Amino acid sequence: MNNLLKQLLKILSDGKFHSDADLENELNLTQSVLCELMEQLKQLEITIITDTQGYKIAGGFELLNKDIIAKYMSNDFDGYLRYLFIYDELTSTNTYLAELAQLKCGRYICLAERQIAGKGRLGRTWISPYGRNIYLSLLWSFKIELEQLSGLSLAVAVAVTEALKRYGIVQNCGLKWPNDILWQNRKLAGILIELSGESRRSNSIGDEYSVVIGVGVNVNMSQQSSKHITQPWCDIAQIIDAVPERNKLVAFLIESLWTTMVIYNKQGLAPFLAKWRELDVTYGKKVAIVTPQQQIIGIARGVDETGRFLLEDEDGKMQRFASGEVSLRL
Ligand code: BTN
Repeated sequence: MNNLLKQLLKILSDGKFHSDADLENELNLTQSVLCELMEQLKQLEITIITDTQGYKIAGGFELLNKDIIAKYMSNDFDGYLRYLFIYDELTSTNTYLAELAQLKCGRYICLAERQIAGKGRLGRTWISPYGRNIYLSLLWSFKIELEQLSGLSLAVAVAVTEALKRYGIVQNCGLKWPNDILWQNRKLAGILIELSGESRRSNSIGDEYSVVIGVGVNVNMSQQSSKHITQPWCDIAQIIDAVPERNKLVAFLIESLWTTMVIYNKQGLAPFLAKWRELDVTYGKKVAIVTPQQQIIGIARGVDETGRFLLEDEDGKMQRFASGEVSLRL
């Protein structure tokens, strides 16, 4: 997004009417440029109301803002904001941090107002319209055995539900293995964890793995973009009867994810298993699990200590899966 467009959006974000003359003066532009910028905002699915008083965005528009995020963070955490980068537009926040990991060590958090090619699990696209949802990635190094990373996505799912709970979504949240966050069985948030081949570093303490943890939360999905979502979904605007506050939820997500990573690095999945099992929406239900090789139907029996999915097959045999896509069979 160019600078002028961003400035215009900032002015209109208050939700009040601004006249043509005021906007032209403030931004030092002509009427035809102003019209062009309004058109560009519409292209971003930002609805502009126009009447004799000028232009406004109904309900206002909340841009991501480090100062507001800081306001919602506990004192022990606000120091971590120096590791936070906010971008207007990225191909994918996960890709950005994976590339950064090749150049720098350390912990970073990255947010984007929109992703041009947001990535979902199993090669899917994560629909990422401008300024409406949360697209967050966290880069973290773990000093643990590689096998221990297999349960990380479950711990992250628990961390995200904790943040949603603190935000006010206390009921009807559930988890579907390995890490789908559902509200009334519709997808509210997704997690994509990526370990890049080159991210392993050896030192005197042992191996260290850099991992990118990507979290997408549907906050206020635009109607137009929602047409491209291929699974049952919901957003926070449908759940809570108030204007969603992305910066507040981002603060809660960062705190929850950060705490979880510190614990996971020391203790692995164990401290998160009870909570995950409590939120498991498929436990005891008839499900199908699809892997690249096969589809198996059976009864979901939760997860084992390493986070693998347990399926009691039609012969009564317990099978374990480290990856795959689970769906309920009604
Ligand atoms: C899923 O399919 O459930 C995973 C979705 C993960 C989406 C997030 S948005 C932030 C980060 N960047 C990406 O490209 N993907 C993840």
